[in-house]
Amino acid sequence: MIALGCDHGGFELKQEVIQYLKENQIEYKDYGCYDTASVDYPVYARKVAKAILDGEAEKGILICGTGIGISIAANRIKGIRAALCSDCFSAQATREHNDANILCMGGRVVGAGLAVKIVDTFLHTEFSNDERHIRRIHLIEE
Ligand code: RB5
Repeated sequence: MIALGCDHGGFELKQEVIQYLKENQIEYKDYGCYDTASVDYPVYARKVAKAILDGEAEKGILICGTGIGISIAANRIKGIRAALCSDCFSAQATREHNDANILCMGGRVVGAGLAVKIVDTFLHTEFSNDERHIRRIHLIEE
C-alpha cells in the first residue's frame, strides 16, 4: 500500500499521481490534504511517515510546492528516508542505494508526465541489498 500526502502546493499533482495509481491497480491511501486551501506541510509529512512506521504502508509519496519543505519534515522522523526527486535517474538511485521509503516531489517543479514516470520508477525499483549501502543506511540511523 502506498501512503499519499501533500499540501496545497502539491494537491493538483497528487491528483495526477492518484490517477496513475488507479490505472495501474496500485493500492493507496490518501492522507490529505484534499483541496487547495492553505495548510501546513509538516502535518502531512507526519501522517505519511506514521503510516509507514506503523506498517500500514510500504512506501509513501509526499508533494508540496517545491518538495523541499515536506522532505525536510519527513526526514526529521527516525526511520524515514525521504528522497526529493525531479528525475528518474535519482528515483532509481535512491531506491537502489538509500532504500528510500518516501518519494517527495514539487508540484510547482515537475510536470504531470514526468512525475508519473518518477513515481513508476520509484515504486518498481528494488533496494540493491549491497553491503556498502546497508552499512551507510545503518550509519544514518545511528
Ligand atoms: C507553500 O506555499 C510552499 O511553501 C510549500 O508548498 C513548499 O514549497 C515548501 O517547501
